[in-house]
Amino acid sequence: MKNTPTALMYHDRTKHRPARYAASLGYMDWETQPNPFRRYENTPLISLTHSEITPPYHLLFEPEALPCAPLCLESLSQLLRYSLGLAAWKSQGGSRWALRCNASSGNLQPTECYVIAPAIEGISSKSTLTHYAPREHALELLHTYDDVLPDGSFTIALSSILWREAWKYGERSWRYCQLDAGHAYGAIKTASSILGWECEILSVETEEIARLCGLDQNERFDDSEHESPDMLLRIGIANKNSTLPQTPRLASSANLLSHAHHDWPVLEVIDHATHGLYPITTPLKTSRKSPPPSKSAGEIILKRRSAQAMDGSSITEAQFRQILDSSNFCAEASDVHFMMFVHRVEGLERGLYAFVRRTEDVDILKNEMDESFLWEACNDGLYLLRTGDYRGVSQMISCNQEIAKEGAFSFGMLTSFSCALESHGAIGYKNFYHQCGALGQMLYLEATSLGLSATGIGCFLDDEFHALLGLKNQRFQSLYHFTIGRAIVDMRITTESGY
Ligand SMILES: Cc1cc2nc3c(=O)[nH]c(=O)nc-3n(C[C@H](O)[C@H](O)[C@H](O)COP(=O)(O)O)c2cc1C
Repeated sequence: MKNTPTALMYHDRTKHRPARYAASLGYMDWETQPNPFRRYENTPLISLTHSEITPPYHLLFEPEALPCAPLCLESLSQLLRYSLGLAAWKSQGGSRWALRCNASSGNLQPTECYVIAPAIEGISSKSTLTHYAPREHALELLHTYDDVLPDGSFTIALSSILWREAWKYGERSWRYCQLDAGHAYGAIKTASSILGWECEILSVETEEIARLCGLDQNERFDDSEHESPDMLLRIGIANKNSTLPQTPRLASSANLLSHAHHDWPVLEVIDHATHGLYPITTPLKTSRKSPPPSKSAGEIILKRRSAQAMDGSSITEAQFRQILDSSNFCAEASDVHFMMFVHRVEGLERGLYAFVRRTEDVDILKNEMDESFLWEACNDGLYLLRTGDYRGVSQMISCNQEIAKEGAFSFGMLTSFSCALESHGAIGYKNFYHQCGALGQMLYLEATSLGLSATGIGCFLDDEFHALLGLKNQRFQSLYHFTIGRAIVDMRITTESGY
C-alpha cells in the first residue's frame, strides 16, 4: 500500500523511549516562536457576529431535538465561534495568551480553517472562499467565485502549519498536528450540532483540498510555513452531491510567522507520504445515550480547559460511564479502543481495564494482548484486565506527568494500526490521529459538562505502554493518551473572556 514503509519509519523514529525522547531542540527558542495567528495580506475582513444563546448541551445528542438553522451570517458565526474561536485570554507575570475552543498540543494551534460557502447576506452576494481569523472572529475574503454554489450547505477545509508544532516538538510534532486537526474537526462537529447541522468528512484527495484553498500556490507562503491539507468537511442540510468550485491563483500572501526556522527534514517526508485519498471508516453501530440535563452548550465549550494539575479525588461510576459513552458520538472514530488505568472510580476496583468500542475486536485484542489478562466483562464494552494500583505506572508512561496519576483515570487510545495501513497506506496513519483527536475533543467536553476536567497527553512512552499490554508487534499501537479527573485551578493565572 502507498507509502506504508515511510509511515512505519516515521512512527518508530518518533516514539518516546525512556532513555531517548524523539528528536527536538530540547529547549524553547523564544526568538523564533511562531505567531499563533495566520493572516492574509490585503484581504477584506468581514466581522462575524457574537450570539451568546446556545441550546442546553445535552440536547446536542438527542436526534431531531434541535431545529436546523438556516445558513446565514449569524449561524456561520456561531459555528466558528464555538469551534475554533477564542475561549479566553489568560495572563500571568506579564505574559498574555489566548486559548481556543479547540484544544491544541502546547497551545501552538497549527490548524487553519477555510470556508467555501454560497452567497450569504453580510458576507458576499457571490460564493466565497474565506479564511477564519480567530483573534478577530472574522473571515478574510480570499476569493469570490462566479460559480453559484447551492444554498443550504457549505464546505470547510482544515490544514496544518507544521512549523508551529515543529518549533517546540521537533520530529514528533507531525503527530501533534494531526491530533490537533482531529480536535478541530471534533469541535466543528459539536458546534454543527448546536445548529442542527450534519458535519461529514468527505473522501477526497488531499491535493484537491490544497488546490481548493490555494495551499498549493507556494509563492503565497514562506518556504518553511506552508500549510498541509488535512480534511474537507461538508456541513449543513442539503446538496450532499454539490460539486466544488475551481480556485484560480490567489493574490493574497500569508503573514510571516517566524523570522527564522529550524529544519526537521523527516517532517517533509512524512507529510509527503500521507497525501492521497482521505479514507472513510465504517462507523460504529452504537450511538451515544442522551446525557442528563446540563448547562448551555456554549458555556461548556467556552469553559473547557486542560487541567495542569489534578487533585487526586474520585469520581462516580455513573460519571465514568457517561464519559466513556460520549465517545460513541464519534462513531466514525471506530477503530480506537481505550486501554485504561482506573485509579479512583467509586464502585470499580483499581486496575487495568479495556474499553472495547467495537465489539467484534474483543477476540482479536485477547489474542494480541497479555494472555494472563482476566477479560472480566463489566458491561457496555468495559473489561477488567488486571486489578492493581497503576498510579505510578501511568505517570511513568505519561513522560512522568503527575496529571496521569492524580486524575481519576488515564488511558491510551489503541488503534488497529497495521490493518489501517494495509487498507489505506500511509494516509490511514494520518486518519487515525484525526480519529483520536476528535475523540479527545468530545471527552474534554463531556468531562466539563460533569464539572470535571481532562488533559490530552501527547507525551507518552509508546513501547513501554505496548509492553505493559503484552503487545509484541505493530497490529495495535497507541497514538494518544488522556487523563480525566478534578483540576486544581492555578489562582495566579488571570482569565478574561475571548472577545
Ligand atoms: C494533542 C494534544 C497533546 C497534548 N499533550 C499534553 C501533554 O502531554 N501534557 C499536558 O500537560 N498537556 C497536553 N495537552 C494540553 C494542551 O497543552 C492544551 O490543550 C493547550 O495548552 C491549550 O489549553 P486548553 O486545552 O485549556 O485550551 C495536549 C493537548 C493536545 C490537543
